[in-house]
Amino acid sequence: IGEDWANAQQKTANYDESKIPPYTLPALLTTQDGGKVSSAEAWTDARRPEVLALFQEHVFGRTPANWGKVSFETREVKKDALGGKATRKLIHIALPEHPTWAGMEVMLYIPNGLSLPAPCFVGPSFGGNHAVSTETDVPLSTRWMRPSKDKHIVDNRATEASRGNESSRWPLEMIIGQGFAVATYYYGDIEPDHADGWKEGLRAVLSKDGANTEWKNGDWGAIGAWSWGLSRIADYLETDDSVNAKKLAVIGHSRLGKTSLWTGAQDQRFGVVISNNSGEGGAALMRRNIGETTAIITKAFPHWFTKTYTSYANNEAACPIDKHMLIALAAPRPIYIASAVEDTWADPKGEFLSGLHAEPVYALFGQKGYGVKEQPAIDTPIGDAIAYHVRTGKHDVTSYDWEQYLRFAKRHFSK
Ligand code: GCU
Repeated sequence: IGEDWANAQQKTANYDESKIPPYTLPALLTTQDGGKVSSAEAWTDARRPEVLALFQEHVFGRTPANWGKVSFETREVKKDALGGKATRKLIHIALPEHPTWAGMEVMLYIPNGLSLPAPCFVGPSFGGNHAVSTETDVPLSTRWMRPSKDKHIVDNRATEASRGNESSRWPLEMIIGQGFAVATYYYGDIEPDHADGWKEGLRAVLSKDGANTEWKNGDWGAIGAWSWGLSRIADYLETDDSVNAKKLAVIGHSRLGKTSLWTGAQDQRFGVVISNNSGEGGAALMRRNIGETTAIITKAFPHWFTKTYTSYANNEAACPIDKHMLIALAAPRPIYIASAVEDTWADPKGEFLSGLHAEPVYALFGQKGYGVKEQPAIDTPIGDAIAYHVRTGKHDVTSYDWEQYLRFAKRHFSK
């Protein structure tokens, strides 16, 4: 059904707290056989694997393990990028055993003049590398793109007019200026973001029945596949001496914020996890039924999730997880959850609450969460290992958001 229908739902959705039915969150610290989890070891060895398996079975699906070798080809190194402040690398990642997949194009900016390898933010983009950067010599993505309101996408392809289009969400000079590298790729390199997109993407390539695959309960969805791409960037970064692969922060906005959370859950090489306005299917508690709901998201975007997730539409109580458990999968690594006050579709309060209810797991590791029980005032960041803010404005990534993420990543990576 797709984007237009989902956008139309925004007008008629429930935004009234008093209409949220009473709910009970699934227990975080009780194992499936009823055991109490009261130590970091019990979480790590017994409960964490169960929770991860629940998200695989019920929400995002299992990531297959059959991709084989991964190749990295550095196609460009520009030492005087961003007016000499950075080195820009373009790296092509491919699967030699699966040549029908066209691969992914990674753009990496590394600050010049650092004496140590740089910590690095890793995140997918909505519009491609040429949209993230304002540098006009970045190759234009040739992949399928969603139509855009301002007409810079023509016949589902980027045009010159789409250069720099996403750059306000990626303040490269500010990030580089603080000593961080940035690695990004276009999420459509993995698969086009529409219900049949998987047929032309990695999910078909890796499944034995290709484009005839019948997706079963527990099989991975698009979010799982986009997340896989972020982990392959981590594979590459482990081979690049200019980056400190022990200091990687995964970041994503909206549907790509859901992707960021799932990446942080599955791949512990990401030492900091950031969810920007990830909303329903991301940080927002699914049981709150306010703004976007499970019923809406699974009808509009069934391909993002595993098939099982659709069965929880108007039936959230039957789902063995809620999103505090997704946040807890990042523990004890620091996680930042950000909301925007006008982004009621994403349920800012529900995003706040998932972090609050993940605190008991962080506490097992001696880590502090928010330090408050109520959602803070607008533009007032809070928290320690679990951090949160709700900023002024709309669904977006702004330099205010990045200021907080940079401060947060710096604080935790310097420990
Ligand atoms: C839609 C969708 C959200 C999603 C958002 C986005 O609004 O309903 O779940 O987060 O698109 O990715 O921008």
